[in-house]
Amino acid sequence: MAIKTCLTHLMLLLIIWKESLTCNGLTVDPPENLTVLDPGHLGHLQISWSPPGSLINMTNCSIVYHLEYFNTYRNSWSMTRMNVRSYTAQFDLMKDIKVRVYTILDGPCTNNTMIQSRSYAELIQKPPSTGVMDTEVQNFTCVYHNKEHVECMWRRNPNTPAISKQNLYFWHKKLDQAVECPKYMVSGGVRRGCNFTGTSLPEFANIIFCVNGSSPEGPLKQTFVSLQIQNLMKPATTKKLHLQTCPDKKLQLQWERPNGKIPGHCLEWEVEHNQEGPDGKISKTQSVTRETNFNFTLPSAHNSERNCFRVRSKLHKYCADKSFWSDWSRPTCDPEKEEMAPEPQWSVVPVYIYIAAAIIAVLVLSLCVGAALQVKKSRQEKKPDSLLTTLFTRNLTLTAAEA
Ligand SMILES: *[C@@H]1O[C@H](CO)[C@@H](O)[C@H](O)[C@H]1NC(C)=O
Ligand SMILES: *[C@@H]1O[C@H](CO)[C@@H](O)[C@H](O)[C@H]1NC(C)=O
Ligand SMILES: *[C@@H]1O[C@H](CO)[C@@H](O)[C@H](O)[C@H]1NC(C)=O
Ligand SMILES: *[C@@H]1O[C@H](CO)[C@@H](O)[C@H](O)[C@H]1NC(C)=O
Ligand SMILES: *[C@@H]1O[C@H](CO)[C@@H](O)[C@H](O)[C@H]1NC(C)=O
Ligand SMILES: *[C@@H]1O[C@H](CO)[C@@H](O)[C@H](O)[C@H]1NC(C)=O
Ligand SMILES: *[C@@H]1O[C@H](CO)[C@@H](O)[C@H](O)[C@H]1NC(C)=O
Ligand SMILES: *[C@@H]1O[C@H](CO)[C@@H](O)[C@H](O)[C@H]1NC(C)=O
Repeated sequence: MAIKTCLTHLMLLLIIWKESLTCNGLTVDPPENLTVLDPGHLGHLQISWSPPGSLINMTNCSIVYHLEYFNTYRNSWSMTRMNVRSYTAQFDLMKDIKVRVYTILDGPCTNNTMIQSRSYAELIQKPPSTGVMDTEVQNFTCVYHNKEHVECMWRRNPNTPAISKQNLYFWHKKLDQAVECPKYMVSGGVRRGCNFTGTSLPEFANIIFCVNGSSPEGPLKQTFVSLQIQNLMKPATTKKLHLQTCPDKKLQLQWERPNGKIPGHCLEWEVEHNQEGPDGKISKTQSVTRETNFNFTLPSAHNSERNCFRVRSKLHKYCADKSFWSDWSRPTCDPEKEEMAPEPQWSVVPVYIYIAAAIIAVLVLSLCVGAALQVKKSRQEKKPDSLLTTLFTRNLTLTAAEA
């Protein structure tokens, strides 16, 4: 890919060089009135220009424009030639927008040689400086779950003011305007992602996402991301696994692909095998079957061993450029051991003890307070025959008698 782009650039440079050599004295002016229009498509901008005024009356000339712009998503210059006077390209609005256009003349007026303008019309647009510093979201990622729905998640920047609200907008070529997230995913009272159901996002199209927001301190810094969802698929977890011992001591694992729209031939599998020896030692092996079989055979199994398997899947490279591994299936084992009794839940025991202790403490405390109040009351009312006073005096007399 990089080599291809490089070659294209080299060829364009050669053409430009050849053109400047063949220039026969005629000078060409660069285009005029270069402008960039933002139709509200989250950085999908319309670049347009006018032909140089000096060429307006040259009817026998064919004019071609050579456009260069800095592709902020690829981090390199992109070039293209056209005879129309506008072009749309994708920019990250949080970065500098740089565009250059040259005029190229051809046809009878130049005796059919191409002449390119020496200078170019240039436009450099700085990103808006609005937004509270360091409040852009982090780690924006989307996952296309089992080709059914897309979940996009982000992490709040730690510097985001506590009371602030984040919004997600998205745009692709089938939409007239940017649209807000249909269903936010909220945790802890804060928006952390967006759930796009069904076919609300198209495959094989650049989708631009923008996370912006507002806070009492002002607008939050925006983040722009452009991606295609067919490369973000994560198959569902495999639910159905069958393990059987063959007469020849082979262990055969078979599974069924998860339900859904991902075709079986698009999945490749990883099988994890855990072998537990009689001494309790566990050895782990992992194997990836690039083939799209739904089975795996362990050549020989000894009776003394316990073999456990689990599988996960991913899209084969013939079906998608990239994909995420599914979650692991639940392990299936031979021999099947009964589920071990759930371990005592240590965290629960102290809670009961604490509650009991707390109740006892409260009871004792209330008794003490009650008693203290009683004493105070009896003292105030000077009732010598109250129980406590009697006990007290009896104690005193006893001590006196002992002494
Ligand atoms: C460029 O824009 C200016 C002002 O808008 C206008 O006067 C001029 O005619 C334009 N030039 C061309 C070639 O259209
Ligand atoms: C183009 O031609 C028109 C009339 O044909 C003339 O009035 C005008 O000045 C010319 N413009 C240029 C830039 O030569
Ligand atoms: C354009 O070219 C044709 C022949 O190619 C010629 O007859 C005509 O006079 C030219 N017109 C102008 C305005 O140069
Ligand atoms: C145009 O080019 C041809 C061959 O490329 C040449 O014979 C002719 O003299 C050139 N005419 C002018 C006006 O430069
Ligand atoms: C999140 O992004 C930061 C920097 O942008 C990076 O250092 C970090 O590794 C990312 N974390 C995850 C979980 O991807
Ligand atoms: C997103 O929506 C789908 C159904 O449209 C649902 O199955 C899934 O659980 C949702 N995800 C979250 C994280 O709520
Ligand atoms: C976020 O972006 C959308 C789309 O550009 C815009 O309509 C909205 O006003 C923005 N919200 C904030 C708080 O900046
Ligand atoms: C394993 O899967 C492949 C391909 O689906 C099939 O040809 C083969 O017969 C299967 N093996 C067994 C033992 O089922």
